[in-house]
Amino acid sequence: MIRKGIILAGGMGTRMSPLTKAVNKQLLPIYDKPLIFYPLSILMLCNIKDILIIVNKGQLSQYKKILPNGKNLGIKLTYIEQDKPRGLPDAFLLGEKFINNKNVALILGDNFFYGQNLTKNLSTNTRLKNGARVLLHRVFKPELFGVAKLNNNNKIIKIVEKPKNFISNFAITGLYFFDKNVVNYSKKLKYSKRGELEIVDLLNIYKKKNLLSADFIGRGGAWLDTGTMDDYYKTISFVSAIENRQGLKIACLEEIAFNKKWIKKKHIYDAIKFYGNCDYSKYLKKII
Ligand code: TTP
Repeated sequence: MIRKGIILAGGMGTRMSPLTKAVNKQLLPIYDKPLIFYPLSILMLCNIKDILIIVNKGQLSQYKKILPNGKNLGIKLTYIEQDKPRGLPDAFLLGEKFINNKNVALILGDNFFYGQNLTKNLSTNTRLKNGARVLLHRVFKPELFGVAKLNNNNKIIKIVEKPKNFISNFAITGLYFFDKNVVNYSKKLKYSKRGELEIVDLLNIYKKKNLLSADFIGRGGAWLDTGTMDDYYKTISFVSAIENRQGLKIACLEEIAFNKKWIKKKHIYDAIKFYGNCDYSKYLKKII
């Protein structure tokens, strides 16, 4: 069982500047809550309670204002600062002590997942023992993503970052599951031309050893990333449409923790006090 997870919530957010000049992307709103709530909710739904959040140097205090230490959610949050964006596998170098020789999940702080059976599907992946697993999702413009080519048995035979020539429509989403070797393999990686450690290189190490597997988010599921202005607003529209129709919130952390019996009514009352008089608090009142 994977019990530990890392959220990468640093980055420069260059594509969304000037919005991201003073505030980190993951603290910007996706409709009625900060973006970071969404990837955090996904780890919680996977029953991962021991979570490391990697943030930019100098931005820790902002994060702690909204997500102090996890006690209010029945989980454990640890923070590490990254002094500059060295690439996604840097998470495993910075997180070596946190990982402590255990299997670990990684989610990108700006990724949004939603869909029927998603939780059940994800929970299956937390049973990973050996190797690495990626989640694939069909996209219209694969040239914008890391892409996996599959054979007839749905086995990954090739991974290419932003392929110029078409190889497949399956993008590699920002949620990954790794065995404990991920730290040692990350140490072997070299910086790419753009000066970062590349997740594709890390996945290729697993692939060469025949230890890379894939799961799918089908067409009934949504995977959006919020890295460009356009995608950012599309994600907001999506959340607003679903929440207003159903009257149920996506990524209400206290609701998830309460339903899992990780926290008690008292914690919900505390949360209501903390958030103050807002729609989010009114929603929390309803669930108890
Ligand atoms: P990116 O989208 O690659 O980078 P970014 O968010 O800085 O945006 P831009 O390209 O516009 O500058 O990063 C994906 C996610 O991972 C994002 O949530 C930021 C995070 N990240 C880190 O925390 N540390 C890193 O070293 C990198 C590369 C990304």
